Amino acid sequence: MSYADLIPVLTWRNTPEIRNCMFSNDVVTLGAHRAWYERAIEDPTIHLMVMESEGVAVGFMNVTRMDDGDEAEWSFHTAPGARSGTGFQMCSLTLDYVFSETKIRRMKAQVLPFNIASMRLHVRLGFQRHEVERRWIDGHGRYYNIVGYELPSIEWRT
Ligand SMILES: CC(C)(COP(=O)(O)OP(=O)(O)OC[C@H]1O[C@@H](n2cnc3c(N)ncnc32)[C@H](O)[C@@H]1OP(=O)(O)O)[C@@H](O)C(=O)NCCC(=O)NCCS
Repeated sequence: MSYADLIPVLTWRNTPEIRNCMFSNDVVTLGAHRAWYERAIEDPTIHLMVMESEGVAVGFMNVTRMDDGDEAEWSFHTAPGARSGTGFQMCSLTLDYVFSETKIRRMKAQVLPFNIASMRLHVRLGFQRHEVERRWIDGHGRYYNIVGYELPSIEWRT
């Protein structure tokens, strides 16, 4: 992800359909977004990526290594209006990259229970559902049963 991607990624993130699927669903200002980006690109545990298709940005991916170890958690969204299959393609490319080019050996995800598209996507990628945790989500102002998924590198593309 480069500076040129800042505005498109912010615009996607602030659409109601994407905000609603995020744990923190407030509208992000350009100043806060820029400050977050500048901190993140200095942090070696964070990988920010934008997927392009035919030169057009179609999705955003954040992979963050946990406790500086070999596990990471990801968070992502596609551009509103991106063609069907974009999410699967972006996640597959990300797993190919992190499991071959970094020391990450397990990818984790947390999904809100109404996010059927994300749950189906994780299952299709081979993730196992491993926990359901009831947690207060500030941005939504209510408790949700958060669904956890994980995929060890040895199970990717088997
Ligand atoms: C989740 C998201 C990345 C999926 O991207 P996508 O390009 O629509 O996904 P794909 O077309 O590759 O489809 C992946 C799976 O989701 C399913 N799906 C896609 N949109 C769906 C919808 N609106 N309702 C139900 N299922 C849906 C597809 O059928 C497919 O499942 P299948 O293989 O069992 O048929 C995208 O919808 C998004 O950005 N959502 C908002 C942000 C978000 O939820 N991020 C993930 C947070 S954990």
